[in-house]
Amino acid sequence: MGSEGGATVCVTGAAGFIGSWLVMRLLDKGYVVRATVRDPGNMKKVKHLLELPNADANLTLWKADLGEDGSFDEAIKGCSAVFHVATPMDFESQDPENEVIKPTINGVLSIIKSCTKAKTVRRLIFTSSAGTVNVGGQQLLEYDESCWSDVDMIREKKMTGWMYFASKTLAEQAAWAAAKENNIHFISIIPTLVVGPFIMPSMPPSLVTALSPITGNEAHYSIVKQCQYVHLDDLCNAHIYLSEHPEAEGRYICSSDDATIYDIAKLIREKYPEYNVPTKFEGIDENLRVVSFSSKKLRDMGFQFKYSLEDMYTGAIETCREKGLIPHSTEGHANGNI
Ligand SMILES: NC(=O)c1ccc[n+]([C@@H]2O[C@H](COP(=O)([O-])OP(=O)(O)OC[C@H]3O[C@@H](n4cnc5c(N)ncnc54)[C@H](OP(=O)(O)O)[C@@H]3O)[C@@H](O)[C@H]2O)c1
Ligand SMILES: *[C@@H]1O[C@H](CO)[C@@H](O)[C@H](O)[C@H]1NC(C)=O
Repeated sequence: MGSEGGATVCVTGAAGFIGSWLVMRLLDKGYVVRATVRDPGNMKKVKHLLELPNADANLTLWKADLGEDGSFDEAIKGCSAVFHVATPMDFESQDPENEVIKPTINGVLSIIKSCTKAKTVRRLIFTSSAGTVNVGGQQLLEYDESCWSDVDMIREKKMTGWMYFASKTLAEQAAWAAAKENNIHFISIIPTLVVGPFIMPSMPPSLVTALSPITGNEAHYSIVKQCQYVHLDDLCNAHIYLSEHPEAEGRYICSSDDATIYDIAKLIREKYPEYNVPTKFEGIDENLRVVSFSSKKLRDMGFQFKYSLEDMYTGAIETCREKGLIPHSTEGHANGNI
């Protein structure tokens, strides 16, 4: 399949960590991009989009909110593909049912309705999450696209990020049913933890987790303990790849590396000794096994990953330093907390 450059596509959540990089890559490829954000007038949140190469010619901003039914109608009308990337990511929410879970489910359902009304949309690509695959249910050493998280268990255990895992699982399941009913070509892409250089101006939610061994944010250690990773650029290229392959069908895990928190700590310590990254994590067994997510289905389609785990971490740390989001060292902080 060749590039479908020239086509008009919509990206939701376009100002965010993944959305903004995806918009950049689509503009690079000659697509005309409609980027949805909640607050197009807020220069702090959209400047990095307007400054992208080719943005003057081929990027427009559209205001839309997942909490408002029909909000995406205008942006989607006339598009050949929609990348639904937006999601509420607030792990600290005081009202998780109404602020995270409901808008995530209703949002994707409303976007499916907009696609149906538009009649121009050939594919809807939903950015799902590893949180729909391996949380709460039976713990395995390798996961594939047939695995689903257990929402009852998630609600019962209320682990860090529980409302996000529940929201994505319920939203993807509801979307599959609605897409079938409305005859929408729906594809879900399942990234594991996304790490790498980025263009959004503030701290990306996934880097709060990925860089927790540097910042000492212990609440996130449970996620990094046995985690899987994908480079932001690989992930965005995979989104475009799936949208350009009409034979793409179903769910696609997109993950290139598996590591334990000890592997990550070692990688950071060796590259950046100026961060006092611990050698021991209390209560976490040093002989922990890696748990992997298989991208076999995506690779078998011909997609190739280009980046290593080291590329992900050096890219993320360098960008965070340039933007002043993390300090250049944690020396002098006795316990490594910053
Ligand atoms: N990063 C990862 O490691 C990772 C891993 C697996 C899956 N994912 C998935 O990737 C997607 C993007 O995540 P991200 O890491 O790029 O996070 P992000 O930087 O927080 O981006 C999410 C975007 O969603 C938008 N949003 C939030 N609530 C909204 C609402 N009610 N209505 C409309 N837009 C709303 C925000 O847009 P505003 O600009 O309007 O505030 C924000 O820019 C999500 O679907 C997430 O589940 C991410
Ligand atoms: C904008 O999109 C049009 C239509 O796809 C394309 O021909 C043109 O090269 C793009 N312009 C830039 C500056 O990328």
